[in-house]
Amino acid sequence: MKKLRLGIVGGGPGSWIGHVHRIASRFDDKYEIVAGVFSRNFKVNQSFGVSIGINKNRCYKDFKQLCDKEKKRKDGIEVIAIMTPPGSHQVIAELFIKNNIHVISDKPFAGTLPQAKKLYKTIIQNKKIVYGLTHNYSAYPMVRHAKKLIEDKKLGNVEYINVEYVQDWSNGVKVTAKNAKKVFRWKLDKKIAGVSTVLNEIGSHAYHLCNYITGLEGKSLFADIKKYSKKIKFDTNAQVFINYENGAKGLFWASTTAKGGIYGLRIRVFGSKGSLEWVQNDPNYLKYSSETGATKILERGFNESNFSKSFSRIKYGHPEGYLSAFSNLYKEIALKINLKKSKKRFYFPTAYEGLLTAKFIDGCVKSSSKKKWVQF
Ligand SMILES: NC(=O)c1ccc[n+]([C@@H]2O[C@H](COP(=O)([O-])OP(=O)(O)OC[C@H]3O[C@@H](n4cnc5c(N)ncnc54)[C@H](O)[C@@H]3O)[C@@H](O)[C@H]2O)c1
Repeated sequence: MKKLRLGIVGGGPGSWIGHVHRIASRFDDKYEIVAGVFSRNFKVNQSFGVSIGINKNRCYKDFKQLCDKEKKRKDGIEVIAIMTPPGSHQVIAELFIKNNIHVISDKPFAGTLPQAKKLYKTIIQNKKIVYGLTHNYSAYPMVRHAKKLIEDKKLGNVEYINVEYVQDWSNGVKVTAKNAKKVFRWKLDKKIAGVSTVLNEIGSHAYHLCNYITGLEGKSLFADIKKYSKKIKFDTNAQVFINYENGAKGLFWASTTAKGGIYGLRIRVFGSKGSLEWVQNDPNYLKYSSETGATKILERGFNESNFSKSFSRIKYGHPEGYLSAFSNLYKEIALKINLKKSKKRFYFPTAYEGLLTAKFIDGCVKSSSKKKWVQF
């Protein structure tokens, strides 16, 4: 399999996720980063690009110039990876899709539901391109194993789905109206962060995980969203009741103001025959409780967790985590691009899954402001 020529938009100095994308793209030697625009500041962009080995002439002024110049080159980029803040995902992705360049985008799918609908339409109209969304928690081996167990009806019918993703963005700093901009940066600005910061930034991952593992779509919801304070007005906490298409009930909590909350992503699924629990801080294990037997801890790649083996690289017993899961997405997207029309099943998150999440977030914002149940 040949290496794909990859361009990057965003992820400049200081962006933690930029570093993760670059590692993930190289993890399996399936891509070569050849061009980019890493910052809106040209000087920063160029010096950063050169520092990671990109030819100075292929560090562009902006994403439009990147697209324009690269498509004219014989050795131009084949894939673009987008890791800018949410409000710009749609315009950037659309430009590359229209120029037949494959897209790997970080979440959320788009900043708002109208943007998401427009982007989704553009993606499905172009059959030549592959689009993948880096909802990276879906790529952990034991998350995929959980999905398989549910598909194989090991839990019977899914009845309850509880998810929580709780963080503390203040980092121990006392946030006031004066220092809020310094602490939260673009996350305070709806034009950049999108319709709801807590939901776009971490709620999107949590809701996606519910859809992804159970295969179920939510139909109606009641949300209660809290702003940081009267003076610092951005969404920081969301609690949501969800009714799923099969009648299952969901409880959802995402927070960026839960003191002591350290990347606390946890999902529990209860079915008519038993339940599963997965916790991101202990990702190599899945707790499985049948309705009659004792609780079992299933380990990645070990004994009956065979399905998870195909998404692991290191032997069971040795810890594996975030970076290798993220890399699974890059690996699968490269395979899909190279295999073209193969019928092989892939597990990376799609544009449709992104659209579902955008509908959920839009529904939450409407429900919380009207204080009513809404369909979404
Ligand atoms: N998948 C995950 O686990 C995960 C984790 C963190 C962030 N993210 C997502 O990554 C995205 C970026 O978040 P972040 O925390 O890295 O933000 P950030 O502000 O730390 O970094 C954004 C970077 O993009 C650059 N940038 C912004 N607009 C640009 C443009 N138009 N052209 C070129 N460069 C541009 C900035 O200079 C900066 O280097 C968001 O969508 C966020 O939700 C995903």
